Amino acid sequence: MAKVKTVLIIGGSGFVGTRLALKFREGYKVFATYNTHKITIPGVTYLPLDLENENWVKRIVYTARPNIVIYVAGNNDPEWTEANPTVADFLHVGGVSNVANATDSMQLRFVYISSSYVFDGNRGNYRETDSALASSLHGKLINAGENFVRGRYFNHLIVRSSPLLGRGNGRNYSVFDKMRILLDRDQRVELPNYELHSFANISGFTDMVKRVIDSGSKIKTIHYGGTTKLTFFQMGKLFAEKFGFNPALIVEKARLESDDDKGSTIKDYSLNSTQMATTLNIKPLLVEESLDLIKQLLVPSL
Ligand SMILES: NC(=O)c1ccc[n+]([C@@H]2O[C@H](COP(=O)([O-])OP(=O)(O)OC[C@H]3O[C@@H](n4cnc5c(N)ncnc54)[C@H](OP(=O)(O)O)[C@@H]3O)[C@@H](O)[C@H]2O)c1
Repeated sequence: MAKVKTVLIIGGSGFVGTRLALKFREGYKVFATYNTHKITIPGVTYLPLDLENENWVKRIVYTARPNIVIYVAGNNDPEWTEANPTVADFLHVGGVSNVANATDSMQLRFVYISSSYVFDGNRGNYRETDSALASSLHGKLINAGENFVRGRYFNHLIVRSSPLLGRGNGRNYSVFDKMRILLDRDQRVELPNYELHSFANISGFTDMVKRVIDSGSKIKTIHYGGTTKLTFFQMGKLFAEKFGFNPALIVEKARLESDDDKGSTIKDYSLNSTQMATTLNIKPLLVEESLDLIKQLLVPSL
């Protein structure tokens, strides 16, 4: 009988990390890390970790002895990165370097969860073969993380995803949770109307990552996005309509004063998921389908 492989999820208490941990329980031994938000999932061994402490990182790696490391510590909000540049730099690049030093002598596959913000947003519909020339600090840091991984791990997988829709774990909130909480209290939700994204569904995302790993495919970069392009503001309106909230509570957010593109045209960060669709036989979803999928899962609590 084949030995069960071990996955170590760095950032396993986050929105995306938790959902990956839940998915990889099916067929893998799963270790996952938390920093400030301790969570418990049956079948997943959660370990505390501060990525800044190199010895601690080594202890985690030697405890788990993983065949696969999934690095999903970080943040997907460019405004948060602007406000916290040093922490963001560390999480997207420095933390990866500490994990790489700890895993130097190990044969493993390193999976880096990246984002559509690695592109400049001037064109949209980006393919895996397009050059990633980020315009924002956020995108530049994630791009630096990707480059580090490419240089350090021959057996790597970079997964670039559009913003993901779905429910968080109650400790780290997703964009979806934040909208839902405010709308539930009849409060206004300010959302940017100056960036287009091919919003995608978290369940489809975790399914896709697991299928790439399960298949043993040597793919090195893959894009994950839905087929509808919307701004956060448009997605918020649609969400409010679909979930029975007041759409008038969704209002446009002003651009940051520091935004170089203030006043210019809308940026388009959409991703082309053709490679995923053809190699893995997965159908990218329309945003309505993504929301319907979440709605089905939410029915008991709404
Ligand atoms: N959310 C999306 O839609 C989306 C889309 C595309 C790509 N991504 C990428 O996925 C990554 C995670 O996003 P997310 O939305 O899941 O973020 P999140 O919910 O904020 O989770 C961040 C994770 O990083 C951990 N962390 C933070 N500081 C740490 C430290 N010093 N040491 C160790 N761990 C630390 C957090 O631990 P604690 O919470 O326990 O402190 C948490 O597990 C980001 O790189 C983002 O670019 C996200």
